[in-house]
Amino acid sequence: MSGARMSSTLASPSSAASPTGSTPSRDRRWWWALAVVVLGSFTVLLWMGLEIDESKPPIPARVVATDGTVLVDGDDVMDGQRVWQSIGGQQIGSVWGHGAYVAPDWTADWLHREATFVLDEYARDMGVASYDAASPEQQGALQARLRQTFRTNTYDPAAGTITLDPVRARAFEANARHYADVFGRGHEQYAIPAGTVKDPEAMRQMTTFFWWSSWAASTNAPGDDATYTRNWPHEPLVGNTPTPTNVLWSIISIIVLLAGIAGMVWYQNFGPHDDEVTDAPPTADPLLGYEPTPSQRATLKYFFVVGALFVFQIAAGILSAHYGVEGAALYGIPIDRILPYAVVRTWHTQLGILWIATAWLATGLYVAPAVGGREPRFQRLGVNVLFGALVLVVGGSMIGQWLSITGRMGYGTTRSWWLGTTGMEYLDLARLWQIGLLVGLFLWFGLMARGMWPALGRAADGPLTPTAEAPLAAGGRRTLVLMLLMSCLAIASFFGAAFGMGHDTHLSITEYWRWWVVHLWVEGFFEVFATVVIAFLFSRLGLLRPAVAATATLSATTIFLLGGIIGTGHHLYFTGANDPVMAWSATFSALEVVPLALIGFEAFRNLRILRVSEWVAGYKWAIYFFLSVSFWNALGAGVFGFLINPPISLFYVQGLNLTPLHGHTALFGVYGMLGIGLMLFCVRSLMPGREWNDLPIKLGFWGLNGGLLAMALLSLLPLGLAQAWASITEGLWYARSAEFLATPALTVLRWMRTPGDVLFGLGALAIGVFMVGLLTGHSYRAGGGRTVPGQAVAAGTTPHEEA
Ligand code: HEM
Ligand SMILES: [Fe+2]
Repeated sequence: MSGARMSSTLASPSSAASPTGSTPSRDRRWWWALAVVVLGSFTVLLWMGLEIDESKPPIPARVVATDGTVLVDGDDVMDGQRVWQSIGGQQIGSVWGHGAYVAPDWTADWLHREATFVLDEYARDMGVASYDAASPEQQGALQARLRQTFRTNTYDPAAGTITLDPVRARAFEANARHYADVFGRGHEQYAIPAGTVKDPEAMRQMTTFFWWSSWAASTNAPGDDATYTRNWPHEPLVGNTPTPTNVLWSIISIIVLLAGIAGMVWYQNFGPHDDEVTDAPPTADPLLGYEPTPSQRATLKYFFVVGALFVFQIAAGILSAHYGVEGAALYGIPIDRILPYAVVRTWHTQLGILWIATAWLATGLYVAPAVGGREPRFQRLGVNVLFGALVLVVGGSMIGQWLSITGRMGYGTTRSWWLGTTGMEYLDLARLWQIGLLVGLFLWFGLMARGMWPALGRAADGPLTPTAEAPLAAGGRRTLVLMLLMSCLAIASFFGAAFGMGHDTHLSITEYWRWWVVHLWVEGFFEVFATVVIAFLFSRLGLLRPAVAATATLSATTIFLLGGIIGTGHHLYFTGANDPVMAWSATFSALEVVPLALIGFEAFRNLRILRVSEWVAGYKWAIYFFLSVSFWNALGAGVFGFLINPPISLFYVQGLNLTPLHGHTALFGVYGMLGIGLMLFCVRSLMPGREWNDLPIKLGFWGLNGGLLAMALLSLLPLGLAQAWASITEGLWYARSAEFLATPALTVLRWMRTPGDVLFGLGALAIGVFMVGLLTGHSYRAGGGRTVPGQAVAAGTTPHEEA
């Protein structure tokens, strides 16, 4: 991934590096580069926030028609946003393209309904029965009139009033009736059950919020000929087509990516060639005979919770995918009354983050005492308290979400915000549980830091001789410990950005802070954590030269963050930002793909590690899962991420199935696989005992990878491309409409998710079976005798044969 690391992989094992490969002056330069990148990037990201605050669409206090009809008076838009959030928000359809994919995008749907309503009235003015019945010349004239009406900005900042043509007031009422019907009587194809919103006043407010999102998307920003959402969604009727800035910066971003890759390849060929993989590995596993401390044994239960949450997440995922094909039922059983789509989808996305986080938390807690060489006082108590807190947050937030989405907490109430759901995708857990999670993350960091602290005090370069109490302590450089701790601190701290969104925050600003958490996590500090933790474990086991690994990790981190921090803006192109924000975001997010394009080399490094010494084969499956981390980083994050990344691409496909294509392959492919790999690594050394029967892991590995690939290639990719075509030719509303999705070809594609989902589900189940087998004993090989941690290979077989 970093130049140094990739060059090391390409270099021959005997290439010149000192035994310790010490490169302190190079490290110092990279530390400086990292500091400059982080400070500079956050300055730009904060500036972008100020720009968005300036350019975001205003929320009117009054909306009136020129004939005196009052449509909105007071806080209806904000109240409506809160109602929408409390019934699941982004988990039911989407607004401004962000959210779930089964029901329509309400912004695009409203806009198209309003536009056709107005065009039909205009046609009748002309003496034609409807817009469709008009001649092409008449249609052209009608469209020109429509654009004039829609795009002209009539907001009066002094009075806070928007003035509309009376025909739009009539369209408003027609749409309001339609949505009252959808959310009142239910809509099977949208997977919206009857009685989703029972209170007419709340319904009216939510309608007003939908109207506002559409008004912002079709009204020119002041002094501009693009709308507040940069002409998103694509809707030819009102002239919503890509802006010149969009086209220009899309092209520039592609060139920047090519230049970046060229630079990396150059560096790889002409930069320093230090081999990272050691040619003098320890003769035995350093963890051999290590007695886990009480706190380390206490982390074991975390991994069983990981397994349980993972299986549960998949059950929720299969159910929510199923809602996409059978709107209200599971093979005929009407489950939408008890577990509506929005509930299972919110559980599905949240559980994914929570089990991955749990696996990482446990890894950090497990590793710390083995690095520090001593068990800090009350460490076990801390590990147990954290476990209790985690269980409370998971259980409490899920119950709250069910209560709120099924209307049991009232619509848009403070109670729902604090205890129910925020309705914002990936940060759906209510405020109280967010506080719990933040406290938990800091508790985790504290426990880890005190465990590792002694290692920081040691000399920069220790000899490669582990001690009995600190099998992972020796031979390490300070850099890797420091970086591991820093990435964990960043993960904990950046969750704090969630508190930038409040219960009365403008949608543009809410999105800004939401992506601070989600994007900066997955494309920033999680990437750093993944890089550091793998390099850390391997070098602590004596398989990588610590100094070379440290430099490689430091440079990789710098390169990731160079694109990753400013790249946050690629989620904000169409949420009320302006052109400069789009230009910066498009350029820097393209740079994110540079390290990913070359990350496959890391897989080769891991394969080489597997062959370095016989005992390494005990970690075979953990290493295989780390290999798939590299694979999915290249395909899911790199290729499928960049597929939707240039503004011109996202303009058409935001909110279509190319986004979950990327979301699944990147989030599960990279961090899910990492979580499983770390889990196997820790469990392997935590449960010294008999040799593993690793058949279930093997099935799990191939089931998960094959299933994910099948889900991507058989269903999500073709479905997403078909939708992209519909969006480009007709408009976004059409790509998401029930009529388009119900066509026979599309129905087949949606059902084609089944093979991949089933394979994937079986893979997950196999991992679950293995974990349970560790407790019941059936995951140990019969007659395998007692072996020691990391020593799963029977004498006489070589790792090569095993692989
Ligand atoms: C391992 C790294 C990554 C992970 C885990 C990840 C994950 C995600 C997730 C979960 C979503 C939201 C999907 C949804 O709403 O259903 C998303 C959206 C997106 N990602 Fe990534 N991503 C990663 C890397 C990248 C990279 C490298 C790029 C390109 C530079 C990228 C570009 C995007 C874009 C453009 C969107 C859609 C934005 C929007 O609709 O607002 N991602 N990603
Ligand atoms: Fe992102």
